[in-house]
Amino acid sequence: MSSPRHHAVAVLPGDGIGVEVMPPALEAVDLLGGLHGFEVAWTEYPWGCDHYLEHGAMMPEDGIAALAEHDAILLGAVGAPGVPDHVSLWGLLIPIRRAFDQYVNLRPALLLPGVESPLRETAGGIDILVVRENSEGEYSEIGGRVFPGTDRELALQEAVFSRRGIERVVRFAAGLAESRGGTLVSATKSNGIIHSMPFWDEVFADVLAEHPGVEGRLLHVDALAARFISHPGELDVVVGSNLFGDILTDIGAVIVGSMGMAPSANLNPEREHPSMFEPVHGSAPDIAGRGIANPIGQIWSAAMMLDHLGERAAHDAALAAIRRVLGETGIRTPDLGGTSSTREVADAVLAAIRDHAMAGAR
Ligand code: NAI
Ligand code: MG
Repeated sequence: MSSPRHHAVAVLPGDGIGVEVMPPALEAVDLLGGLHGFEVAWTEYPWGCDHYLEHGAMMPEDGIAALAEHDAILLGAVGAPGVPDHVSLWGLLIPIRRAFDQYVNLRPALLLPGVESPLRETAGGIDILVVRENSEGEYSEIGGRVFPGTDRELALQEAVFSRRGIERVVRFAAGLAESRGGTLVSATKSNGIIHSMPFWDEVFADVLAEHPGVEGRLLHVDALAARFISHPGELDVVVGSNLFGDILTDIGAVIVGSMGMAPSANLNPEREHPSMFEPVHGSAPDIAGRGIANPIGQIWSAAMMLDHLGERAAHDAALAAIRRVLGETGIRTPDLGGTSSTREVADAVLAAIRDHAMAGAR
């Protein structure tokens, strides 16, 4: 028998429900590894808001260097009521995304059988891939406050758009659209934001000229947000800036059933650095500690990680198991209208993975 393929993965459960949904994902990957001939060596790092409250930083100074030793990073969620959200985000997630040049944030919104969308009109299904620019744009530390504490107080916040930054993310999105034989919609706002967005549109057009097979379209982000609700079945690949992509993907997550289902990948497509996989949702303090968080977004994110690591068959098996649990059983957490716990959903997914493998072996 050949020796198993080996992957080294850094695990950052983070805060709140992050620590509740992570174990099911690790168990699913371990099970899939046994069935598909690979092994994952997990190294867990207890970084996040507790670390911040104790040490004054979300992660240690050599944190990035430690993560760099791994093939991939699996993250739960960060954020806790006692720590300002900009501290938790800028202390952990954003430094990782930037240090490892994870300039693509890939977020699928796929409506699975058995899951109810809050939308009335979903004929034709929902299968949208949002490609969010993940390294620049509106999420910038350039700016500041002037005259603090006076009635002249003001804040300035600069957005950063570079030709290289737009080109590479649009190129990635165009490649995806090409592979799906579909269309590419770009989220713009060039009517109101008169410098960066016309520039975005111009670079978008330049890149699309290299991809004659892709039908490209510009839509203002407000109109596009409305189309996510009114005509989600007509959208295929969508590319947007850091902020627009973030907002559109929360819409994408709820129209396919729940924030708790949506997976995401922070990719360094050149594979010079580890990529990071995490559910779209946050630490959900409103339900943390109750054992009712939906683990599917985390398991699905781990499946995207397996795909990235070259374990496509294991990815497909995980997705098949998720589909089976939602499509053929009533086992689901309260966010999907069920009464099951995190553990019960996790066990059902694990059982479906096992059943699927046994059926394949027969
Ligand atoms: P959130 O995603 O944590 O929660 C939004 C709503 O969705 C809540 O009602 C929550 O209960 C529900 N929800 C989220 N995940 C769920 C799951 N797996 N199962 C069932 N229900 C789920 O977003 P919110 O409330 O804006 O932020 C809470 C904290 O999380 C903040 O500190 C925020 O900064 C942080 N956050 C972190 C992110 C990350 O680590 N990538 C992303 C978004 C927010
Ligand atoms: Mg978000």
